[in-house]
Amino acid sequence: MRVGVGMQQSFDLLFASSNLHKFQEAKKILEHFGIKLGFYKCNLEEIQSNSLKEIANHKSKQAFQNCKKPVIVEDDGLFIESLGGFPGPYSSYVFKTIGNKGILNLLKQKRKAKFVSVISFCDKRNIISFESYLDGTISKKIIGKGWGYDPIFIPFKSKLTFAKLKDKNEISHRYKALKKFSNWYFDK
Ligand code: IMP
Repeated sequence: MRVGVGMQQSFDLLFASSNLHKFQEAKKILEHFGIKLGFYKCNLEEIQSNSLKEIANHKSKQAFQNCKKPVIVEDDGLFIESLGGFPGPYSSYVFKTIGNKGILNLLKQKRKAKFVSVISFCDKRNIISFESYLDGTISKKIIGKGWGYDPIFIPFKSKLTFAKLKDKNEISHRYKALKKFSNWYFDK
């Protein structure tokens, strides 16, 4: 079913977020799977929790209550192994406070990390989430001009940061979680 948003366009479902970069990537990825995504730009309340799934589900319920349309939200975290998984669920706050430079200053030799994405879908009948991760390492310096942690995250088997990679949307944590979501979406 396509749902109408505004006067001119129709979408299969909405992506609720304040982050345009995330939406643009999710839109491209889901287009590839045959799902048309609309942007529901909003600031959702974020609960404090160590679980990305709990945070994402809380946000998608809120988004559905507001927009009354089938909606997905995404919550992400960058988990750095030598820092015990920091910043994890606090990635957004840490990015705003110490940023990429601050992360680089915290690291010595061990640079293993993973990016985790949780997609939570909510409509009248369902609330369901899909989680995926991508292993990688943290670069020694800022490389490229991408958004968020893109200039410091080097995916496994790559020499380039996300900011420099042309095929980020074909391998990312977001791609993997959205692929799981779209498999479920077409079967539901
Ligand atoms: P949240 O899901 O909005 O809480 O995002 C967590 C943090 O990770 C934010 O600071 C985002 O900018 C960052 N982030 C999430 N996904 C990506 C990505 O694909 N590239 C770079 N940074 C990301």
